[in-house]
Amino acid sequence: MRFEKTIGCIGAGYVGGSTMAVLAYKCPHYKVIAADMDEAKIQKWNSNDPPFYEPGLKEIVNEVRGKNLFFTHDIPSMIRESQIIFVSVNTPIKEYGIGAGMAADLRYWEKCARDILLYANEDKIVVEKSTVPVRTAQAIAHILSSSQNHRFQVISNPEFLAEGTAIDDLLSPDRVLIGSEETPEGIAAREEIVKIYAHWVPREKIVTSNVWSSELSKLASNAFLAQRISSVNALTPLCEITGANIDEVSMAVGMDSRIGGKFLKASVGFGGSCFRKDILNLAYICKSYGLEEVAEYWLGILKINELQKERFVQRMLRAMFNTLVEKKIAIFGFAFKARTDDTRDSPAITVVKRLLEEKASISITDPKALENAKKDLKGITGAIHFTLDPYEAAQHADAIAVITEWDLYKELNYKKIFEIMRKPAFIFDGRNILDHEALYNIGFNVYPLGKKELVHFKEYP
Ligand code: NAD
Ligand code: UGA
Repeated sequence: MRFEKTIGCIGAGYVGGSTMAVLAYKCPHYKVIAADMDEAKIQKWNSNDPPFYEPGLKEIVNEVRGKNLFFTHDIPSMIRESQIIFVSVNTPIKEYGIGAGMAADLRYWEKCARDILLYANEDKIVVEKSTVPVRTAQAIAHILSSSQNHRFQVISNPEFLAEGTAIDDLLSPDRVLIGSEETPEGIAAREEIVKIYAHWVPREKIVTSNVWSSELSKLASNAFLAQRISSVNALTPLCEITGANIDEVSMAVGMDSRIGGKFLKASVGFGGSCFRKDILNLAYICKSYGLEEVAEYWLGILKINELQKERFVQRMLRAMFNTLVEKKIAIFGFAFKARTDDTRDSPAITVVKRLLEEKASISITDPKALENAKKDLKGITGAIHFTLDPYEAAQHADAIAVITEWDLYKELNYKKIFEIMRKPAFIFDGRNILDHEALYNIGFNVYPLGKKELVHFKEYP
């Protein structure tokens, strides 16, 4: 079959792989090539199971792979063949030198720019899909403009998908943002990218802007989302002390249409590969322009998030008579959120490490994330057991800590679980997903987040 054009992507991870799959699915007349330097990952893409779990992804990939979607390790060939090249490589926190622990490490991105420069055989449009610091496009354009033979336009097109709902987010995005240099060539290149999305996204949802607004909007969006969670989480201790109920407060606040109800769910802390990294990056950029107070404002979101995880552990410790030695704790959920196997920066990692420091023995259950959990906890000393079966995890346990909001934890037989646990039995619901009253009536001592605990202990005067 002759294709209208070829679109390539460097980086076939969560974003690159999922985005290219949906693009190929929606644009059968384009050839789409996702390339990655990780050969094992490419092999997985070319098997029947993608390299990670994402609802709906496997079905889409299986439908288009080999027709107009191709996965390859051969980056030079992909670069030569593609007229438009998305770059969706990881941009982790820098771990060395200036900016260590805060700035984005752009070495993977720069390597891509240099590969494009090296292998390109004609003019190309290069699309920043990775989340990058504002003004990265300029650095990339400087590298690419050293070409004697070809001209490159750098477009910013940040991705807003969330894991667990990535396919729906890609099929029906709230908006698609496309930024470019505001020159005739920049605007023409931007229109090429608009044309791609216009195959399935309503035109009014495709927003164009200058390239710096586009880059900064991505960091700002993640900071705003995380800020809402930290705002709610910051209210949970106050609720526990005063008798207010965080779910009722969130609902009342969110019903104001100026505020809105989404992302106001209290939790043991937010996780995932991006919120912490992107806020650190935003704060680093502010600091680098001398905006210390602004940087501190954004960093406050992260301080509350760390405090929330620590508060969860301290509440467990206090409730269980100030010692966890020889106590078994079942961890329900290790993924950073439900419907994914991703554990990057999951609050479960911090909670488990802290409980092990208190010499508790840990039994972790999760329907999808156990393999990643094992990697995250490799080399950590202490008693850790992994099981797919929540009942096995709870056997002889003193406490259950719900860390991930998997639906299956709502549907378990808690009467049976209560019977197989050591007494007194505790539940710490770090997601407020369980029926706390019913658990209390079964006999559990229940500690929801941001709500009064329900305990069977008598208060002594
Ligand atoms: P990922 O780690 O899953 O994937 C990145 C891939 O890039 C890896 O497979 C890696 O092997 C590959 N890679 C790195 N350097 C390469 C090179 N020079 N040549 C070829 N391949 C290379 O990361 P991700 O979660 O897909 O995130 C990618 C970017 O998208 C990041 O900037 C992230 O902040 C952003 N983002 C992520 C999400 C998300 O939900 N994960 C959502 C929106 C935006
Ligand atoms: C987030 C953003 O939602 C995406 O728009 C963005 O593209 C992506 O980061 C990124 O740049 O990587 P993601 O991290 O996949 O997506 O998942 P979210 O649904 O945002 O959840 C992040 C964390 O916040 C999870 O740990 C989740 O459990 C927690 N959360 C979310 C809460 O604690 N309360 C809420 O009300 C919502």
